[in-house]
Amino acid sequence: MSLEIIEKLNEALNNVEVSLQNVSNAQDIEDARIASIGRKGAITLLSREMKSVPAENKREVGMAFNAAKNKIEDLLKVAQEKLEDAQSDSEAAGVDLTLPGRKWHAGTKHPVTRVMDECVAIFRRMGFIVADGPEIETVYNNFDALNSPKDHPARDPRDTFYFDDGRLLRTQTSPIQIRVMEKQDPPVRIVAPGRTFRRDTPDATHSMNFHQIEGLYINKDVSLADLKSILLAFAHDMFGDTIGIRLRPHFFPFTEPSVEVDFSCIMCEGKGCRICKNSGWIEIAGAGMVDPNVLESVGYNPEEVSGFAFGFGIERIAMLKYRIGDIRYLYENDKRFLTQF
Ligand code: DAH
Repeated sequence: MSLEIIEKLNEALNNVEVSLQNVSNAQDIEDARIASIGRKGAITLLSREMKSVPAENKREVGMAFNAAKNKIEDLLKVAQEKLEDAQSDSEAAGVDLTLPGRKWHAGTKHPVTRVMDECVAIFRRMGFIVADGPEIETVYNNFDALNSPKDHPARDPRDTFYFDDGRLLRTQTSPIQIRVMEKQDPPVRIVAPGRTFRRDTPDATHSMNFHQIEGLYINKDVSLADLKSILLAFAHDMFGDTIGIRLRPHFFPFTEPSVEVDFSCIMCEGKGCRICKNSGWIEIAGAGMVDPNVLESVGYNPEEVSGFAFGFGIERIAMLKYRIGDIRYLYENDKRFLTQF
């Protein structure tokens, strides 16, 4: 009898060992535990037969049961550890060290800002100081003090945004010249970057708000040659030494003489292409010698000092520099466009 029960015990033990050999999850281990030492497990049921074991064998059989239970607990523990090891191995195997790191999406500078910063840096190196002015201006600073005739077409409300109080959104950065000269005696050497506004119908080259950088130099004996040398130095710094410049007579109310400034075409290097309309030149700025009327309007003496002024369109430069075919790209905030810069 005692032999028979020990045989059955060994058999049950064997079953547990086999079932724990191929566990793939915690449930398999739990099932093996229930099937062996659980309340209705094989070993537990078998242990109920202890009462029919003859007294002289009870000790031996009892020890066999204890040993079997200990053994099963050990097996369960080992199986559990094995499972955990396997899991952490496969987790480790899930890390692919050859994958590229996660991209850090830092913002980029808008092309208009980049060009504006670069313009400022170039003029700073030439000794210009940065000046600032408000986007909402008086009619006086934007037009009157700049010698614009009362019937100048730019004053028309169809071209300029007016507020009910008579002020306006500045149509140019030139009023900053007035603000600076009213506050400061000559010599003056400033650049003023900023936003400007006009009632234009948006298309590939027009926008209702855009940016300019204004320059002003007032001193004794300033000449048009000084203006030309500064503009040439700027062209070389911005686009490279192969760029040439050309001044064409023009009219601005606040300068006399006035010029339009062309750079040799950046795209075709002067050979002629679609961008420069086969002329080899691209208009890039307005400039001139500050009109004596303007100097007088700020209390300077035109007999004593003279000066030049210029105004560049920032978008124009950005479009040429980065080969952007349509100004509207600059305002649409399309990330596919912006992240290229
Ligand atoms: N303010 C002019 C414009 O918006 C540009 C300009 C022309 C500025 C001549 C100047 C200048 O300072 O001298 O078209």
